[in-house]
Amino acid sequence: MSDQAKLETGGKTYEFPKLSGTCGPDVVDIRKLYAQTGQFTYDPGFTSTASCESGLTFIDGEEGVLLHRGYPIGQLAEHSSFMEVAYLLLNKELPDQSELDEFIYTITRHTMVHDQLRQFYQGFRRDAHPMAIMCGVVGALSAFYHDSTDISDPEQRKIASHRLIAKMPTIAAMAYKYAVGQPFLQPQNDLSYTGNFLRMTFGVPAEEYEVIPAVEKAMDRIFILHADHEQNASTSTVRLAGSSGANPFACTAAGIACLWGPAHGGANEAALNMLHEIGTPDKIPHYIERAKDKNDPFRLMGFGHRVYKNYDPRATVMQKTVREVFDALDVKDPVFETALQLEEIALNDDYFKEKKLFPNVDFYSGIILSAIGFPTTMFTALFALARTVGWVAQWNEMISDPGQKIGRPRQLYTGPTQRDYVSIDKR
Ligand code: CMC
Repeated sequence: MSDQAKLETGGKTYEFPKLSGTCGPDVVDIRKLYAQTGQFTYDPGFTSTASCESGLTFIDGEEGVLLHRGYPIGQLAEHSSFMEVAYLLLNKELPDQSELDEFIYTITRHTMVHDQLRQFYQGFRRDAHPMAIMCGVVGALSAFYHDSTDISDPEQRKIASHRLIAKMPTIAAMAYKYAVGQPFLQPQNDLSYTGNFLRMTFGVPAEEYEVIPAVEKAMDRIFILHADHEQNASTSTVRLAGSSGANPFACTAAGIACLWGPAHGGANEAALNMLHEIGTPDKIPHYIERAKDKNDPFRLMGFGHRVYKNYDPRATVMQKTVREVFDALDVKDPVFETALQLEEIALNDDYFKEKKLFPNVDFYSGIILSAIGFPTTMFTALFALARTVGWVAQWNEMISDPGQKIGRPRQLYTGPTQRDYVSIDKR
């Protein structure tokens, strides 16, 4: 603990302890504020509020730094694998070879879903959004795995976490297969986590599916880049849902619901749609003007971030990965040219410079996913698949914390004061 913060209110001075983490700003510990002063803090959108203590992920938005358990995202994306990053987030340290092998073995052997779960898919319209299906099906897992829902037992929490991480690719691939009317494919244990997902999505029972290593690597990297991101909206949703002691599968479904929104995980879909709408580079200035016009709701999707006021380090890796995937698949998509030019024009525009709006992870991810063959509606489902690792790691961290309490914010009430009921004939 460092020094104290002073607050003067109602003619009195109160002192609150300041707490320091290992990195990042100090926090003023206001847990006793209401008890001592009878006042709340007001912070809609939590722009100045640390909602928890966490050792998983650190972001310095001013400097464009993202660390998982201390390791920079650029190094993890370059040298690691999604399974290794998942192990790191769950277990605090990078695994040695035998730990990693055992982890992969465990995850691989949990990839199948209960056979009855297939029937849930038949209940959806074929044109249902994959995120609608994922919300429903992942929530439904709560009804299937009763042996891993005693959240006070660390072993059961571990099994639930492994199940969620392992089954997500199967569930997402099934959502895709259902939309295109092809049969579901069972997982195949000799493939990697990511290779397996690609086969379950793009393979058909009539022929062998060949995983293209460059695509597998790019996809794995995209998963790494989305694995965790501190206390973002969907992670906070999972924590809040979990704080009541709710079932982990249901909490993850809540995270999926939050992630779906266009201001969060839905932005990659929105960004690619926007790039298609812009079409050719000559139209860029018109859209830049629209983005700056306060009377126009249009925003540059894939630009800006609540935390990053510098280039999102994930966007740097994404931009590089676009080129790798295009080379591997021999794709030339004019939309990438439009994206590069849009980025350059926006970065040199005073409005974007003043507001510190830079490309975020979603600006380029849609271009890669589209080149691999995913329809735009699947983009957010892929984000959910990868973010499940972060959600369960954060959920585990919260439940293991002995000081954990149910999340219960307060409010600034602006409705009517107490008044008497008036019968309908007198209104
Ligand atoms: N285009 C044009 N103007 C923008 C944009 C944008 N993409 N983003 C922010 N602004 C302006 C905004 O109008 C506001 O202007 P003013 O101060 O004059 O009112 C100012 O910049 C600050 O924006 P804000 O909305 O108050 O900031 P926020 O921290 O609440 O929002 C954001 C962050 C990500 C929701 C927002 O930047 C946005 O809507 N971006 C587009 C959607 C997007 O790409 N989302 C993906 C986020 S990264 C993936 C993830 O973590 O899920």
